Amino acid sequence: MSFEEMWAALLPVGRDPGTGGYHRFAWTPPELECRAWFLDEARRRDLDVERDRNGNLFAWWRPGGARDGAVLTGSHLDSVPGGGAYDGPLGVVSAFAAIDLLRERGVRPGRPIGVAAFAEEEGARFGVACLGSRLLTGAIAPDRARGLRDRDGRAFGDVLAAHDLDPDRIGPDEDLLGRVSCYVELHVEQGRALTAPVGVASAIVPHGRWRFGFAGEGNHAGTTRLEDRRDPMLPFARMVLAARDAAERHGAFTTVGRVEVTPNGVNAIPSAVTAWLDGRGPADDLVRRTVAEVHEAARDAAREHGVAVELAEESYSPVVDFDTALRDRLAGALGGVPVLPTGAGHDAGILAARLPTAMLFVRNPTGVSHAPAEHAEPADCLAGVEALTAVLKNLACG
Ligand code: GLV
Ligand code: MN
Ligand code: MN
Repeated sequence: MSFEEMWAALLPVGRDPGTGGYHRFAWTPPELECRAWFLDEARRRDLDVERDRNGNLFAWWRPGGARDGAVLTGSHLDSVPGGGAYDGPLGVVSAFAAIDLLRERGVRPGRPIGVAAFAEEEGARFGVACLGSRLLTGAIAPDRARGLRDRDGRAFGDVLAAHDLDPDRIGPDEDLLGRVSCYVELHVEQGRALTAPVGVASAIVPHGRWRFGFAGEGNHAGTTRLEDRRDPMLPFARMVLAARDAAERHGAFTTVGRVEVTPNGVNAIPSAVTAWLDGRGPADDLVRRTVAEVHEAARDAAREHGVAVELAEESYSPVVDFDTALRDRLAGALGGVPVLPTGAGHDAGILAARLPTAMLFVRNPTGVSHAPAEHAEPADCLAGVEALTAVLKNLACG
């Protein structure tokens, strides 16, 4: 299967025919179809398949039976709600295509090369991004992970059990980590910063997710006097505007992309509003200050309207500066490609706490991501595969 054939096989999976957006949430049918595709591609190539205790998938090429010092590549197969085709799958498809090129060219690496598909990278189902790699590296406590719930109230632990994974065995996997020498993730670039076909990542900016819960009093839209209302929608609205203002003041990014209203009726004052704030910025203290100011504005507005407000941090990822030696080695193997930071989170950022990690970016001409317009030109995708091939050769043969 060529890059184009693999890409074409994945393209319809989980795609909304109306919007063109992808809905591939961890352990839902479209994502399971992507997993089945991964296993087929691995077996087609005679790679050793491994599903780890945390539900991450690996396909290992072990020339001569080599087991240790593996060079790991890959990405993820799940998506955000209504996401683009490239975020995640481009790295996995490119990884298989790069192994094909190495074999076609008669390269026989001394180290194993692994292709990874990390579970629940987007956190679209259970709320914590990079859940699979966080569990693998010990960045999230197994107890907390087991209790995470999806929008239908299903616990992560129960979903794992339904797919033959033992929820009591999730958590750090030193055996697996000990077999890997480095991780290189190829990813579509998610803004307009990359003007060459391929680039190398320097850093991931700090980012996190916070949940605001506003609790008021449900009541009738027509009979409740304005002065008698305890409407949680009002402090919520103030919180959204405060988030934008704070981001502008601190040079940060804030987004409120998800909100749940209870009971969500046109003619009922809501009893509760839950909203998620995504906050990112150039430095940890700026992100922290931004969120603190949003919280303060939400508290002031809630007090004014007789509403209770609660804030919970669901995840936080400090700044990641990718391993300089590995980054320089990639840039050297590729000969003068741009080196750039990103505002997007990645498993490579989580794994960086345990291993040297690096990222290759493929140009995105629309600059759009997490939306259907996300794109990479076929020629740039193939340039990405060539770059990854050169990098894997350099790392696994050197
Ligand atoms: C994942 O892509 C994120 O940056 O949230
Ligand atoms: Mn993403
Ligand atoms: Mn991604």
